[in-house]
Parts: sequence; structure tokens; C-alpha cells
Amino acid sequence: MSAPKKLFIKTYGCQMNVYDSERMAETLGAQGYVATDRADDADMILLNTCHIREKAAEKVYSELGRLKPLKAANPDLKIGVAGCVAQAEGAEIMRRQPAVDLVVGPQSYHRLGQMEAEVRAGRSALDTDFPAEDKFDHLAARPKAARAPAAFLTVQEGCDKFCAFCVVPYTRGAEVSRPVNRILDEARDLVERGVREITLLGQNVNAYHGEGPAGRDYSLAALIWALAEIDGLERIRFTTSHPNDMTDDLLEAHANCAKLMPYLHLPVQSGSDYILKRMNRSHTAESYLRVIDRIRAARPDIVLSGDFIVGFPEETEAHFQATLDLIEEVKYGYAYSFKYSTRPGTPAAERGQIDPAAADDRLQRIQALITRHQQQIQTDMVGCEVRVLVEKPGRLPGQMVGKSEYLHAVHIDGGQAKVGDIVPVRIVQAKANSLAGRPI
Ligand code: SAH
Ligand code: SF4
Ligand code: F3S
Repeated sequence: MSAPKKLFIKTYGCQMNVYDSERMAETLGAQGYVATDRADDADMILLNTCHIREKAAEKVYSELGRLKPLKAANPDLKIGVAGCVAQAEGAEIMRRQPAVDLVVGPQSYHRLGQMEAEVRAGRSALDTDFPAEDKFDHLAARPKAARAPAAFLTVQEGCDKFCAFCVVPYTRGAEVSRPVNRILDEARDLVERGVREITLLGQNVNAYHGEGPAGRDYSLAALIWALAEIDGLERIRFTTSHPNDMTDDLLEAHANCAKLMPYLHLPVQSGSDYILKRMNRSHTAESYLRVIDRIRAARPDIVLSGDFIVGFPEETEAHFQATLDLIEEVKYGYAYSFKYSTRPGTPAAERGQIDPAAADDRLQRIQALITRHQQQIQTDMVGCEVRVLVEKPGRLPGQMVGKSEYLHAVHIDGGQAKVGDIVPVRIVQAKANSLAGRPI
């Protein structure tokens, strides 16, 4: 018998890509591939790519340049590009880097098996369709192997919002929600394999509206309540949400569903109504702040996180100041800020760009403010009792690492906690990127 073929996948971008990489590995697993964590050991390399900013997309080409010489050492090596760069650039990738054998867009992964056979037969394979069928219904069945305690589960694909800066509606296609029963089956299967926390994924996950039993439409809140019935599933999270889709039933779930964790990622992008309008965000700073009020009324201890873009076309110092004011008002536990990056094919790409030095300066200022709040919120945790889902051993002997309900990374020193346990912990110290705790 010949040795099994080895697969190396490198994942860029968002959590949806992390989930997809897992499903692709399982699909190729059904074709006899085993995973390797070394590119130079692989018979198939897949880059699962991100197109959100120029830097992310360019990284892919430099990585491909680095991988190309491996083909001289292993003539059987095949190189594939999946994900959002694959969707956006298609055959152009093979023109720019002829070492690439396969290009597959995010909605075509169920065709990966066939495509693999094509490239093994010495042909190249390209598929960037948006097929009508749901890729997840056609992917290989998930193997029964034990799993780490926290898992992602994509419940919705695509996006219909068309923010003026963003490639996602073009790379991922229209917004589609997966049916409730499929999600419940997948969640039960994950729990049987050791998962205790599931993060539901979608680019606009709070707009989820999947077909439920008896043809009833389920909101995200209804889906969360259905998942909460699964014994052994202890924690539910969801990301990413849009401010306009924070419905009353979702706020009610945050107030009353014990398994729904007190953490919410709710990007706003800017605090200036003019810029928000030019971004096609369809909300104002004020309407966003009122949503935050409602969330905090429902769940007072909730930790909020957000995304910001600085240097969007036409952004003035006054617009930027409005963003800083909004951050000052909300005080995010985490926030991610990005310098605007022109993306080909998006409406904002046609507009005049602001001075790059001003954008750099704003990025530094926004990050300093965000870091200050982040550290304050971490420091305020000292003395508090949290519950930590233990994910892995820490670097020091006897130390374990996991996440609190607020998604803070916590190092636990002492105690008998095992991976998968949820343990009560007293926070004793706030470090730069994590908290230290003692078992109670
Ligand atoms: N669906 C999510 C965001 C997906 S992209 C949402 O609507 O919140 C993640 C983040 O990348 C965005 O929130 C935005 O802050 C940032 N981003 C998207 N396009 C960008 C661009 N062209 N330049 C800089 N940042 C961008
Ligand atoms: Fe992009 Fe806007 Fe859709 Fe988020 S909501 S994925 S930022 S278009
Ligand atoms: Fe990037 Fe595509 Fe996700 S562009 S952020 S990998 S949806």
C-alpha cells in the first residue's frame, strides 16, 4: 500500500475561513489525505485566503513565491488557492503564479474532491461559481474524531449589505442561512466529540433566518434557544453582527439564556454620520449608541467589541474625532482598527483617497485609545470570579489556559482542571494580553 498523501492548509482571514479549512481538510481526508503541519512535507498545499485588505491579498502571492521551489523537490506536489482571493482573482492567480494548480472559491468546496482528481491527472482546475446548492450539504461527512472544547460553526454565508469599502458581498456571494436542523445535527455531533462551546459564524450572523422544523423561519435568537437545549453544550457565542439587526428577541436571549455568553462583537466602523452614510452603513452613530444602551440594559456585564476603519475617503480630523468620541462613550473590551484599504470593484475605490500620513497618524491614535480601554477593563477584572473553559496546558508546569465567559484568555495556576472543564476562577492579575487566575 502506498503512503497516504499529505495535506498542508494555511488559513488567512476570518473565522469563517478557519471553519472552511477544517471542512476542506475533512473532504480531502475522505480522499485519503492526512494533515501535516509542514509545507515541505506535503503533497497538496492549500492556501485559504482573505481579500479584505490589500496586504492580506498580497501576502498570498509572496507565500506562493516561497512555496514554488518545493515543487522541484516533490514533483507530485500540487498547490491550490481557496478562499476570497481565489473568488476575486480566479484564473489571474494562475497567470501570476504558474505554480498554482487549483483555484477554488468559497462556495465550491464540495467540488474539491473532483478538482483534486483533475490536478492529479495533470490538468489545472478552477471553480469560482456560486452554485445554488449548499456546499455544506455536499461535503464529506465529518469524521468522529475527538475535538478541542471550543468550535466554530458557520450558520450563514455571504452578505447583502454592500458597505462601500467591502469585498465580502462579492467574494462570498449573497446572504444565505443554513437550515436549523442541519445546524442542530452538526452541533450535536460536535458535542459528542467533546465540544462544549460553539461560536455561530456569519458575516451578518444576527440577520440569520433559517428554515426551521415545519417550515417556520428561525431567527438567530430562536436558533440559540434550540441549541441551548443540547445537553453538554455549555456555551454559545455568535459573530459578526450588524447594528441594524440587533432584534428584541436577541437582546432577550442575552438577558435570559444562561448558555449565551456575555460578549458581543458589534462593528460600527466610524462615529461620524457623514462617513457612515458614505460607507453605506445604513445606521448613525446615535442609533448605534442606542443599540448599545439596549444591550447593556439586557446584560449589564456584557463585554463589547468592535471594528473601525480610519482614513476612509473624505474622512476629516473632525470625522475622526467623532469616532474617538464614540469609542470613549462605549469603552470596548476589544476593538480592531484598520487603515482603509482600497479594494478593486467596491464603490469607495472610485473616490479620492486621503493623505496616507494622516491615516497612519489616526490609526496610532485610535489604537492607543482602544488599548487604554482594553487594559482598564482587564484591570477591572482583578478580584472578580469568572468561569474558564479550559482549552490547553499553559507554558509553565501545572498551568492551564482557557477563556472566560467574556472571552478573556485566562492562565490558571494550580488546581486540577482538565481540558474541557469549566472551572470557577478568581482573577489575581491583569497582564498585557491575558489574565492570571486561581481556582476557587
Ligand atoms: N461582516 C463584518 C465585517 C467583516 S470584515 C461586519 O460587518 O462587521 C472585518 C472588518 O474588516 C470590518 O468590520 C472592517 O472594519 C474591516 N474592513 C473591511 N473592508 C475593509 C477595507 N477595505 N479597508 C480596511 N478595513 C476593512
Ligand atoms: Fe462587509 Fe458590510 Fe457585509 Fe460586513 S456588513 S461583510 S463590512 S459588506
Ligand atoms: Fe477575508 Fe473573506 Fe473572511 S475577505 S475576512 S476571508 S470573508
